Amino acid sequence: MPSETPNLDERLERHGISRRRFLAFCGAMAGALALPRATYASAVSAAFETRLAARQRPPLVWIEFQDCTGDTESFLRSNDPAIVDVLFDVISLNYHETLMVPAGADATRSLEDTLAQYPGQYICVVEGAIPMGAGGAYCLIGGRSALSIAQEVIAGAAVTIAAGACSVDGGLPGALPNPTGAVGVAQAVPGVRNLINLPGCPVNGVNLMAVLVYYLTNGSPPPLDSQRRPQSLYGRRIHQHCPRRENDEVRFYGDINHRNGGCLEELGCKGPITYANCYRKNWNGDTSWPIGAGALCIGCTNAHFWDTMTPFFAGGEVDD
Ligand code: SF4
Ligand code: F3S
Repeated sequence: MPSETPNLDERLERHGISRRRFLAFCGAMAGALALPRATYASAVSAAFETRLAARQRPPLVWIEFQDCTGDTESFLRSNDPAIVDVLFDVISLNYHETLMVPAGADATRSLEDTLAQYPGQYICVVEGAIPMGAGGAYCLIGGRSALSIAQEVIAGAAVTIAAGACSVDGGLPGALPNPTGAVGVAQAVPGVRNLINLPGCPVNGVNLMAVLVYYLTNGSPPPLDSQRRPQSLYGRRIHQHCPRRENDEVRFYGDINHRNGGCLEELGCKGPITYANCYRKNWNGDTSWPIGAGALCIGCTNAHFWDTMTPFFAGGEVDD
């Protein structure tokens, strides 16, 4: 007979997940963060077990501003849906405009209730840029400016994750001439406690999942670099680990070198100046990554990449 408060094994069973599959997921999270797989998998498993027994489900408040919902899409496709369900056994998704059932005033009430009931305890994810121009009038939700919402929500969060380029530094909305004065979280709300920046356009959902799991396991952000990015996710240059590195240069898309996995540098690949773990963490349920799919890297994890990495496509010969 199932126990009153289902333990981890019972939860996994309900979601149709074997323990082996769960441990493989933990191993994948360890792989993203470059942590030792066996010990980390045990730590995650123990932390989840403890949280389930204590009914500790920190609320997650996911706010969206000037965005395309790409980070949400990336997150939802980072793992199989059953694994995402397991995560939501140990996190309470209290507010997410795209995913939540309530709308309008009911949705706003969900947000207000969470802020009031869990001060200093909830996890905040920010997706999208925050426009500072025209007194914040370029992005209003329920009659309030994005800036005012961000200030209130972030002030009460235990940890804030800026997911994707737009919330890190303004991203596409902040590209020159930046007509709305779009900026990222750090600039809009200076002095954020426990801010974690996850640049990328969109963020790799596996990385976001790995950071959430790390926080649930350790109660603190993973080690960060000077830009508040997890060192293990953004510490290595793509070019150094690229599977195309030793191969002949591609001259134009579709040529024999392209078909044989050649290097894309002459076409403008930004892998040589981009630090990210895309080469070891595929997207869309472990399907592929830009360079793996035969496209070049446009340097989407670099600061202000729409201004600093363009033109994205440069050089290369024309197939005539
Ligand atoms: Fe470097 Fe890009 Fe060539 Fe890969 S495809 S080896 S990242 S230049
Ligand atoms: Fe972005 Fe380049 Fe990775 S375009 S997703 S940093 S391969």
